[in-house]
Amino acid sequence: MGIVSKLKGSRTQGGLPVSDGLPPSSTSVSHKKKCSYLLPLVVALVVIAEISFLGRLDMAKNAAFFDSWPDMFYKSHSSDGVAVAGVDNEIEALGGDQNGVAQNCEQWLESEDAVVYSRDFSKDPIWVSGTEQEWKTCAVGCKFGFDASKKPDAAFGLSQEPGVATVLRSMESASYYSENNIAQARWRGYDILMTTSLSSDVPVGYFSWAEYDIMAPVMPKTERALAAAFISNCGARNFRLEALAGLEKANIKIDSYGGCHRNRNGKVDKVQALKRYKFSLAFENSNEEDYVTEKFFQSLVAGTIPVVVGAPNIEDFAPYPGSVLHIKELAEVQSVANRMKYLAENPDAYNQSLRWKYEGPSDSFKALLDMSVVHSSCRLCIHLATIIREKEEKSSDFRKRPCKCTKGSETVYHLYVRERGRFEMDSIFLRSSNLTLDALKSSVLTKFRYRKHMPVWKQERPETIRGGDELKVYRIYPVGLTQRQALYNFKFERDADLKNHIQSNPCAKFEVIFV
Ligand SMILES: *[C@@H]1O[C@H](CO)[C@@H](O)[C@H](O)[C@H]1NC(C)=O
Ligand SMILES: *[C@@H]1O[C@H](CO)[C@@H](O)[C@H](O)[C@H]1NC(C)=O
Repeated sequence: MGIVSKLKGSRTQGGLPVSDGLPPSSTSVSHKKKCSYLLPLVVALVVIAEISFLGRLDMAKNAAFFDSWPDMFYKSHSSDGVAVAGVDNEIEALGGDQNGVAQNCEQWLESEDAVVYSRDFSKDPIWVSGTEQEWKTCAVGCKFGFDASKKPDAAFGLSQEPGVATVLRSMESASYYSENNIAQARWRGYDILMTTSLSSDVPVGYFSWAEYDIMAPVMPKTERALAAAFISNCGARNFRLEALAGLEKANIKIDSYGGCHRNRNGKVDKVQALKRYKFSLAFENSNEEDYVTEKFFQSLVAGTIPVVVGAPNIEDFAPYPGSVLHIKELAEVQSVANRMKYLAENPDAYNQSLRWKYEGPSDSFKALLDMSVVHSSCRLCIHLATIIREKEEKSSDFRKRPCKCTKGSETVYHLYVRERGRFEMDSIFLRSSNLTLDALKSSVLTKFRYRKHMPVWKQERPETIRGGDELKVYRIYPVGLTQRQALYNFKFERDADLKNHIQSNPCAKFEVIFV
């Protein structure tokens, strides 16, 4: 089935059609009439409240193929989607028990909002035209392969038939392959970008727990030279060669195993060799945001302090604040050389920079690396399936969902949440009297604890840093944000921001990252 699927429009509850209306209640009918003159006022207030707080969200815009993400956030709210239950005596009818009211509302919302999606991905998986792939599991039905008789949901490369999402996948830096530049790729017509940039739709990084034994023990630093370098290509579109020469000039002794400035025999196991040095020159061939290659991650495995020329945001990739040295520009070579000498002569200070090896990396680092426990092909399928659902949610059936329920002075909001790397959503409810960030976090935790949820990374992370069974929330963010936004840039600053978001996005969907 193609990405544009027919909507069935089933809206049933236990097999019976469900009419739009108020929560089951013996008293609401009579009171509804009395209070109906209030409805226009309430609706107007709701609409006024929907002033686009989310204009501030710098959303990744997906071009012609779909417009779901922006629409999801900027969607014009239809007043027929607002089922305001009005003011009635429900609270009195239930003996003024606020919990009773909320529960009543939750049950009602759970059934009223449960519109069935037309496509069941377990029977009709996401189909991507491309080389067959193997992965253990994927949270959504996901198949790669070539089959001329089937219209895929997505295909790699441009020039595809309409309705098939075009995917660009590359791990090269945009400085060398300008077609990987996000703006340029979108302009050329790619719908979905998979690059090293965390701002791409489905980032493909060089990092993973599986590929690198990140927590391997630190070995004694037995080499006389301070640093090792494995730089094969002396040409580069940044100043890495000048930086290398600059460090040598500043009397930093460097053993160079690569083709460039070679003074040691390069036929060695790189990581094993690096373990013997205090520092490793992790010099990339371009200084590009998020472009961080195995040079850096191998240094972490080796327990040597990486001296980086490369991504301007390398601190985002550091296992702990202050655990890497960064030559941001050529003028900094001398001060970095001084720092290297200082650390080399002060064992305690040096050891402090490797503290994460003993005590574990920061939550921020874990949250970054955990992203890659779900194979990028599976993440692509989740991304596609999410877009297909977003599209369907614009149909009239979905727009009729109440998504909130008001009784007396209390409104109960229906929200959806899933863990990053998973697909299906779980319901949670927030009340207007407690529409706060704390309450959101607490409902998420309650829900996942109740489900005895196991984080998606549990089997993959090194055992020493897996933690216990307690779930710890790192981030909760609206579905559709890029990983750059989710991990580093986006935050509901105040309760009011969350409130605005929830009020202007009926049945708002969130993703949670546990650490
Ligand atoms: C470095 O610090 C860790 C604790 O953070 C300690 O266990 C280790 O022995 C120290 N190593 C040296 C060489 O001082
Ligand atoms: C609001 O939610 C927080 C977090 O769940 C909770 O600690 C607090 O008691 C709640 N307050 C009210 C008034 O329900």
